[in-house]
Amino acid sequence: MANTARVPTGIHGLDELIGGGLPEKSVNLVSGPAGSAKSLLAMQFIYNGIKDYGEPGIYLTLEESRENILRAMSSYGMNIERYEKEGTLILLDMSEIRRRCDVSEEAAVVGFDALSNLLDNLLTYSKARRLSLDSLTAVGLHYEDIPGILRRELFKFSSLLHEKNVTSLLITESIEGGPLTRYGIEQFIADSFIVLGLEDVKGELRRTMTVRKMRFTKHDTTKHPILIGASGINVSAEAKVF
Ligand SMILES: Nc1ncnc2c1ncn2[C@@H]1O[C@H](COP(=O)(O)OP(=O)(O)OP(=O)(O)O)[C@@H](O)[C@H]1O
Ligand SMILES: [Mg+2]
Repeated sequence: MANTARVPTGIHGLDELIGGGLPEKSVNLVSGPAGSAKSLLAMQFIYNGIKDYGEPGIYLTLEESRENILRAMSSYGMNIERYEKEGTLILLDMSEIRRRCDVSEEAAVVGFDALSNLLDNLLTYSKARRLSLDSLTAVGLHYEDIPGILRRELFKFSSLLHEKNVTSLLITESIEGGPLTRYGIEQFIADSFIVLGLEDVKGELRRTMTVRKMRFTKHDTTKHPILIGASGINVSAEAKVF
């Protein structure tokens, strides 16, 4: 599998750690605590995809509003209006759609069935080659009291994505000092697992990135410092964090 085609993230310093990019048509997981730049990474993956590699993409948000995502993107110089107009970038707030269809707040919590239906259609009828889902944690809330079901649903969901002609990036939240993923099982259904860190070092916040798993790839496994600049994430591929 050494020649698996790559889908470059275009994120400064990241592609060189993972053999040129994410494996084509793979399901990739990104975890990290609040504020660790998970959403930013997912936005850049989609934006760079259309801007630099001509690959249409979908950004599906379940936690933050479309307005918030747009505002964050534009603050990093990612202006998507043109791409949305031409239909090459789709930014969808799925919980908002649910809220509009049903007046109850609970209806806004999206389960895997609703998500899979939507994506099945979107991925079949759009030309999207990249997908960011922000976040899996929000979907899992639907199942929290039902052990076992979440694992099965996650597996079914990742199988659906594997059948499609799309490279996906799924976000999951972690709690500082706790397990690496919110439910402790997300990493098993993914082909790759990138962990973002936000550590307090002598009163200063230090951001990090570690590639813990990348199927089909010989990849770097060290913890690297990351910086957030005016145009997004910058991974210091040469530097290590001890
Ligand atoms: N120019 C900048 N330099 C450094 N940090 C910045 C800059 N602009 C924004 N940030 C910080 O970058 C972080 C990235 O936020 P992002 O929303 O991507 O994190 P997240 O992991 O998705 O968080 P959450 O779990 O709350 O959704 C924010 O905490 C923000 O304060
Ligand atoms: Mg976020």
